[in-house]
Parts: sequence; C-alpha cells; structure tokens
Amino acid sequence: MNVAYVNGVYAPRSRAAVSIEDRAVQFADSVYEVWGLRDGRFADEEGHFARLARSLAELRMAAPMSEAALRQVLREVVRRNRVRDGLVYLQISRGAARRDHAFPNPPVAPTIIVTASRMDRRALDARAEKGVAVVTVADIRWSRCDIKTTGLLANALARQQARENGAFEAWLVRDGFVTEASASNAWIVDSRGVLRTAPESDNILRGVTRAAILRLARERQMAVEERAFTLEEALAAREAFITSASAGALAVTRIDGRAIGDAVPGPITRTLRAAYLHAAYAGGAAARAHG
Ligand code: PDD
Repeated sequence: MNVAYVNGVYAPRSRAAVSIEDRAVQFADSVYEVWGLRDGRFADEEGHFARLARSLAELRMAAPMSEAALRQVLREVVRRNRVRDGLVYLQISRGAARRDHAFPNPPVAPTIIVTASRMDRRALDARAEKGVAVVTVADIRWSRCDIKTTGLLANALARQQARENGAFEAWLVRDGFVTEASASNAWIVDSRGVLRTAPESDNILRGVTRAAILRLARERQMAVEERAFTLEEALAAREAFITSASAGALAVTRIDGRAIGDAVPGPITRTLRAAYLHAAYAGGAAARAHG
C-alpha cells in the first residue's frame, strides 16, 4: 500500500488529506520540491534543500521542522513505500486558516505533505534513447517563476497543450525568447555548437539539474553560455534537451513538429545525460535512502 506523510501522520495515500481551508488549496500559498531517486539514492539532495530554504524565505514562511528531521521524513516515506527508482515529493503550505488573503495572524502551523512514487527506469531510459517532441506555448506565468510554488496553473495548461499536440513537454516563450518548459529547463546546442540555456532570473526556476549540467559541461570544457535563445535559434540548433529531477537530461528531437538536427539525441546531450546520471546517482557523495 502506498503511504503518504501529512503533518506527522503516515496514512494510506488514497486517504491522506488536508483541510479545505489549507492555504495551498485556497491560494496555492505553498512551496514544493521534487527529488529524483535511483537505486534508492537521492539526486542532488543538498541543492533541492537549498532551493526549498530560498522559496520559504522569499514567501516569508517558517521552516516547519529542522532540515535534519525533514530528511528523516523523506527517507521514511521512501522506505515505507519501497521506492528504489522514482520521485520524492515534498510540499509545505503556510497552513490552514479561515479564508483571508492576508497571512494568518497569529501564524498557524504549516502543512507538510511527503509522497514517494515509483517510476519505470527502463521506460525512462528508453524515452531518453529516442528523444521527445516539444511544442511552444506563450509563457503567461507570473513574474516570480524563481520561487517553486504550487501555483502551477499556467504550467498545467501548457503541459496539456503539449499533450493534445502529441508532445511530451511545452517550451514557454516570453518576449520572443524561450524561458524554460512547463516542468523542466530548456537547452540547445546552437548552430555554432555552443550550449545555451536562459540565465537565472525571476522568469525561470533555478533548476537543480540545470546547475549540475552547467557544472558538468564546464568541467568538460564545453562552450557554455547562460544566454536566452529565440525559437528561431532553437529551430536552427544542432541539439536540444530539457533537464529536471524527473527527466535528468532528456533529448528534444522535434520542436513544433520540426526536426532538430537529425531528430535523434545528439552527442552533447548524450554525454551530459550519462555524466549527470553518474554524478547524481553513482557518486560517492550521494546519500542512500536504504541501509
Ligand atoms: N519540475 N522549471 C520548472 C517550471 C519546473 O517545474 C522544474 C522542475 C524545473 C527543473 O528543476 P529541477 O532540475 O530542480 O527539477 C524547471 C519538477 C520536477 C516538477 O514540477 O515535478
């Protein structure tokens, strides 16, 4: 049976619940993180905790418990669900209070939710071998996309548009430039062979996987520029890919139905995907969820 953690209680996931007056329900007044798991190891454990602390601080939310205690809860949820390959989801809301836009005064206890889900690793690897299609969608999100909140309606609409067009992901375009994707960061290897992704700003989520890929590319002396690219540049690119906790680095072979390069995962994408999986999951520093 799948078990979720909600405010100190481990309950069957299908029956775990929060109040109808939780501020996550009413206002999306909540932040979240997603960790990738392979062979029971957390990828980029520290990076996700650092971003969580930043998201909480930006929204002036108190940390619900010590980071050490939170780590224990994440591990316990993974252990109880016997997840080896998959995702761990953590959500923290400002808590439940009678509906009022302003923060509860006095403050209420935050709501914490943790779940763990299995993913079929072979299916993920097979998808990466083949590459995925994306479509472009107008980026209609608010101007603090750097905070990882559950206010994901625009992202959900974009992903649905991708789904309805037979694509895996939606690339978001603002002022003519690709910002990121609905649930991942967007990258190209441009026509000159330079690896490009949009710079850190309030318009993108500072992906933990993005940071790892930048570091791995620089370690390998690849030409890298944190500089936004246009759709035209993307269509003329040699390679394209996305990065996220769930996808790692995943080749994009078609954008709006047009082939990128030879419409197969390119050499730089392949190199970075392998390097990321090695560094994130096989490295000695990775913390084990089991044993
Ligand atoms: N999505 N951009 C957006 C809008 C995202 O939602 C995500 C992550 C990323 C990539 O960030 P990271 O590399 O830290 O996972 C970029 C998660 C996986 C999700 O919403 O499920």
